[in-house]
Amino acid sequence: ELTGHQHYMYKEIQEQPEKAAAVIGGRLDDRFATARLNGLNLAPRELRAFRRVKLLGCGSAYYVGQIGAQLIEDLARIPADAEAASEFRYRNPIIEPDTLYVVVSQSGETADTAFAVQEIKRKGGQVIGVVNAVGSTIAREVDGGIYLHAGPEIAVASTKALTNMAIAFAMLALHLGRLRDLSVADGERILTAIKRLPEQIRDILDDEAHIAQVATTLAKAENAFYIGRVRQYPVAREGAQKLKEISYIHAEAYPTSELKHGPLALIEPKLLTVAIVPQDDLTERNLAAVQQVQARRGPVVAITHADVDFGDLDVERIIVPKSEPELDPILLTIPTQLLAYHAALALGHDIDKPRNLAKSVTVE
Ligand code: BG6
Repeated sequence: ELTGHQHYMYKEIQEQPEKAAAVIGGRLDDRFATARLNGLNLAPRELRAFRRVKLLGCGSAYYVGQIGAQLIEDLARIPADAEAASEFRYRNPIIEPDTLYVVVSQSGETADTAFAVQEIKRKGGQVIGVVNAVGSTIAREVDGGIYLHAGPEIAVASTKALTNMAIAFAMLALHLGRLRDLSVADGERILTAIKRLPEQIRDILDDEAHIAQVATTLAKAENAFYIGRVRQYPVAREGAQKLKEISYIHAEAYPTSELKHGPLALIEPKLLTVAIVPQDDLTERNLAAVQQVQARRGPVVAITHADVDFGDLDVERIIVPKSEPELDPILLTIPTQLLAYHAALALGHDIDKPRNLAKSVTVE
């Protein structure tokens, strides 16, 4: 039901504080500074035996899987990576017994992702699902998993389901970490930060009027770069994807570190760069990259923290509250949703049903 909102995408963006609380609800264990994930159907002994984690999904679910892989490496120190399920299924993948496979899907019906599950199971691998739609094909076929409790998502461009995926990965990473070497103190640090996410998402949404104004500039661009490094590279990928999907503006994501190795050649006044610049140990390097873009007369929007000092750089800033560094990507992604939404709105596009796209691709 659309009540008082013009678009499902908008309604779903606004629901995020409440839905984020729903995915967290009942899953944090203060006493042992960990997350309780009963649906995994894996004993602590089994979870400790995994030596690698592979996350698989398509489109935005793949990009948020990259956020998940980094969280697992950060908190559990288990080698982890994400791959597009659509590619994985076609390359006769090597399925290893000591790898935990994690498939990621809002609908639970994406054909490429469902096929990846079958391929893993056929070869004897262990696969869990991070899925929103209860009772969906993927949810039924996996060995266990985490439900997202984001409620039905109607708009083709995913928002609240993605945010809940990232929060679910944070809890999975915390759980795996506490079974290994993550200290009580670090467990508590992450647990406390997870609890604060819903209200921090609310704070970002409260800045909508400003973000909408920035989006009108974005709507006039012919091309856009989204740049971020390490934890923030998947944020850039997801941000660029969202802009492409609903505003039809050509957008590409690059690791900020790669800019000087090629894409810098394209910088000019009509190419807008959205830079993800958190306050962390890479801030100085990120600022140097922003400076290089500006030296070539490229306009820059930064999604950043309040304490980042841009000096005399001419940057339009969107300020996001700080979490713990491992969780910052979850919050830094939220403004990219509103940027894409308001750019598409300014351009008069059909936001909930973008051309050529379906909500879930159930065919090959
Ligand atoms: C794409 C949709 O086709 O499928 C994306 O356009 C979505 O928005 C992706 O992220 C994966 O869908 P799902 O349902 O498996 O998460």
